[in-house]
Amino acid sequence: MCGIVGYIGGGNVKKVLLDGLKELEYRGYDSAGLAVLQGGRISSFKAVGKLVNLVNKTASFEPNGFAAGIAHTRWATHGKPTEINAHPHQGEHSFVVHNGIIENYAALKDDLIKKGARFISQTDTEAIVHLYEFFLRKEKDAKAAFGRTVEAIEGAYAILLIDENLPNMIFFAKKGSPLQIGRAQDATFFASSDAPLIGLCEEAIYLNDGCWGWANEEENRIFEGAVAVEYAPKPLPATQNSAQKEGFRFFMEKEIYEQTRVIGDTLMGRIENDAVLLDELPEGFLEGVETLRLCACGTSYHAALAASYIFERTAKIETRCEIASEFRYRDPVLKSNELFIAISQSGETADTLEALKKAKLARQKTLAVCNVDNSSIVREADAAILTRAGIEKGVASTKAFATQVMALWLLALRIGKAAMGADVYKREINAIRRVPAALAVRSERHEQIRRLSRRYLHGHGFFFIGRDLFYPLALEGALKLKEISYLHAEGYPAGEMKHGPIALADDKLFTIALMPGTMLYDKMRSNVEELIARDSTLLVISPRRFDAADDFLPIDERDHPLIEFYEMMIAIQLLALEIAVRLGNDVDMPRNLAKSVTVE
Ligand code: G6P
Repeated sequence: MCGIVGYIGGGNVKKVLLDGLKELEYRGYDSAGLAVLQGGRISSFKAVGKLVNLVNKTASFEPNGFAAGIAHTRWATHGKPTEINAHPHQGEHSFVVHNGIIENYAALKDDLIKKGARFISQTDTEAIVHLYEFFLRKEKDAKAAFGRTVEAIEGAYAILLIDENLPNMIFFAKKGSPLQIGRAQDATFFASSDAPLIGLCEEAIYLNDGCWGWANEEENRIFEGAVAVEYAPKPLPATQNSAQKEGFRFFMEKEIYEQTRVIGDTLMGRIENDAVLLDELPEGFLEGVETLRLCACGTSYHAALAASYIFERTAKIETRCEIASEFRYRDPVLKSNELFIAISQSGETADTLEALKKAKLARQKTLAVCNVDNSSIVREADAAILTRAGIEKGVASTKAFATQVMALWLLALRIGKAAMGADVYKREINAIRRVPAALAVRSERHEQIRRLSRRYLHGHGFFFIGRDLFYPLALEGALKLKEISYLHAEGYPAGEMKHGPIALADDKLFTIALMPGTMLYDKMRSNVEELIARDSTLLVISPRRFDAADDFLPIDERDHPLIEFYEMMIAIQLLALEIAVRLGNDVDMPRNLAKSVTVE
């Protein structure tokens, strides 16, 4: 998602800004820009696509001497990823960068246009700079004008603003999006996360929500409303490496923990006024679509399979799922009223890419659900929904899966709004809003998983079992475990166990049973009892206590299966992690696996 960097000082402003953006690149973005205020003049540059395009554009820009600069990487929410929509946005004499969403921008914009402001972008951000200039004309005092601007905007934001008439000064405001200030001798830095600050300063002030203020070469002044406040700086990590793992033992662990946040990024700007917006789909894109074909590999395939249950149940649209390497060499009947959806974290998986090309060749409409913008799959597809998980470093995919399922759930609501009726639609939106909280890892549950993982180190195999939506989750649980523990694990539809696999049951066979309270609980219970009768070692994950199990992992009682799905997903990810840790394996880079598989 979007990133912010700011700098006031006599050093190399361009280098500080561009290096800072580079550190934020992992979050994903589709355009970038910067503005530098020096000698009463602001120079601004923007470029679509990778940061290297901005680097090239600024190649002959060589500011030297004292300057104030702001920079931004943008992940489009309001308005397409064009140069005009890239930040910084400008008024007549001031420039702004912003992360988040200004929810009341439409009303502000209308009002400002009536008052004579000239908007050139489609973004919500541009309203900030015109509003500031409007208040400045009234107040004649820049600090008061910026304070009034902050009062007038609603939503989530981290903002930096510079004004040609105020040398060496940056205004800032923060609510709901991260922003921190670092100080070194003779220089002030701003950033939306630690990474750009590390190595440049030793401490940072982490701004609280609702604060605003300004910094110049001498001081920072911070206010909460009209009250001046001071925040104590906190030490920054000494090296980039520890900053990236943010104190976690492994990237995978960090990525499991950050799912609660990144799912918010997936949702940002996509639900407004109780309706799903997917602005990235071109006008009329879904017209004439009567069936769906989802195609992917590995974890992404499990997301596809889970989504197929959502599409059929909620959106009432016929949906088929394909493993890309199989699809490529079959002779499938591909009709023109079918939408082909390629799902991929990396956007570079060779089988998925080739499957997509095959669908295009058959003149199907194609859509990518992908985490990496400008990747091959995104470029190849007719349209793309970006999952916005941020860079995923652990080879065993976690947050990419969570965000894929969410992106597809949103798509199901977009496609099936009419078919599902207003009550169901409302219930689904309501459930989606509760997912970020359900994904927060609770330390006592993690500790319980760590302790019980001892029992599951040496057996002759694992079965993860579930029904309906929880069958793809069982597949994913088994995949996670085998990827990093190297233990044999299979995901199975619980009702199929008696058709063969139950022959394996004994006390050395570990069964992980996913038993949601909202769906087919009694059916699962019967399947599980058949295994208990054969002495299988059993771990039950459920909101309902199950005393006959060897181990029981509770989740909360919920009223929507997908919330249970997400909570159980956290449990199976942590279980795989803790087993692999006990076995002494390299969790982030397991043997024989690659993050992005670009060969057949
Ligand atoms: C590799 C990775 C898996 C991933 C699969 C598909 O096998 O190790 O974690 O699920 O590729 O990757 P994609 O980038 O297309 O989602």
